[in-house]
Amino acid sequence: MIYLDNAATSFPKPETVKEAVRQWLETGCGSPGRGRYGAARQADRDVWEIRKKLARFFGSKEAERLIFTYSATDALNLAIKGFVNRGDHVIISGMEHNSVVRPLRHLEKEGVISLTVVPCDEAGYINQEKLAEAFTPKTRLVVISHASNVTGALQPVADIGRLARRRGAYLLVDAAQTAGNVPVDLEALQADMIACAGHKGLLGLPGTGLLVIGPRVETLRPLRQGGTGYNSQSELQPDYWPEALEAGTFNMPGIISLGKGLSFIEEQGLEPVARRGEELIGMLWNGLARLPNVRLYGPQPHQPRVAILSFNIEGWEAEDVAAVLQHNYGIQVRAGLHCAPLAHRTIGTHPSGTVRVSPGFFTETHEIEQLVQAVRHISFTQVTWMPA
Ligand SMILES: Cc1ncc(COP(=O)(O)O)c(C=O)c1O
Repeated sequence: MIYLDNAATSFPKPETVKEAVRQWLETGCGSPGRGRYGAARQADRDVWEIRKKLARFFGSKEAERLIFTYSATDALNLAIKGFVNRGDHVIISGMEHNSVVRPLRHLEKEGVISLTVVPCDEAGYINQEKLAEAFTPKTRLVVISHASNVTGALQPVADIGRLARRRGAYLLVDAAQTAGNVPVDLEALQADMIACAGHKGLLGLPGTGLLVIGPRVETLRPLRQGGTGYNSQSELQPDYWPEALEAGTFNMPGIISLGKGLSFIEEQGLEPVARRGEELIGMLWNGLARLPNVRLYGPQPHQPRVAILSFNIEGWEAEDVAAVLQHNYGIQVRAGLHCAPLAHRTIGTHPSGTVRVSPGFFTETHEIEQLVQAVRHISFTQVTWMPA
């Protein structure tokens, strides 16, 4: 089996990640703040160590501004709904994922905010002139995906952040497709909040995510209230971070996996990880670009991008290509709209979508060659039979 769907979730996970989760399960399943016995105290220490490590990784000086969530979606909902006020205007790009679009469209429908979608070009890069024109005196928040989960296009986030600051607005970066793959730093990106998943480039388990809150953000309304393991005498949610924003039992195996995933990436070095992604995407692009009836979408390999590539084969539905890749060649990719219909409208592939290939840390070059070879076969085949 060849796994090329790391943009959905990374696979495999490092051995150290698997081992740490197994150990947690075997040594007491401690939960931070829930008990004075050994496993619970150890969990307390682990969560703080991992929180500090992650905060440093994202360029935050204050670990209490690193909030554990259950997914990137959860982090984005917290950042958006916890931050905007009635009457605010919000700007997004035409490449956003539904986990940004849906919470904002919901708030718009409820009459809370107004929303502007700034167009992007065919590769997925935002139109910076149109962005500058989109600001109004009421603009409070700009939400932008650092890299598109459809084309891999890396947005000029630092420029967008500077512009937002000049216009008195804040920047929330959706780093779901970049955290662990390329540097993601609060200051370098001029970001006010960074939301991401823990189960993609950071190599942790599903059920993990985080929100990094920058120093300019002073308040954030919690999405939920509940037990925090501390100050239980109070019937009110604590008003200090992180407890104010982290109600309920922690996803301990997930957080532990995230800590080990991060250590693994730090041992490899983020620069080599990013270079490896560039190398694989270059191979993939060059291999597929030679096939006459294959259409590639997104930026060229030398443009700012991450290792995600979308394509279609003339005369084939994307879903059928993915089914044949899986059934006949044992290659797993994702086809369709990738939870990002807006992005597919932007690149002209709505409603049928594209076939998306996303190599990961453990992808070997021969696996990319096999994919290219398989697509070559399929592209010369008439659609006569489809696996059930
Ligand atoms: C750009 C982008 N944002 C947000 C998400 C949502 O991530 P999660 O499934 O962890 O909530 C994804 C997931 O694919 C994504 O690609």
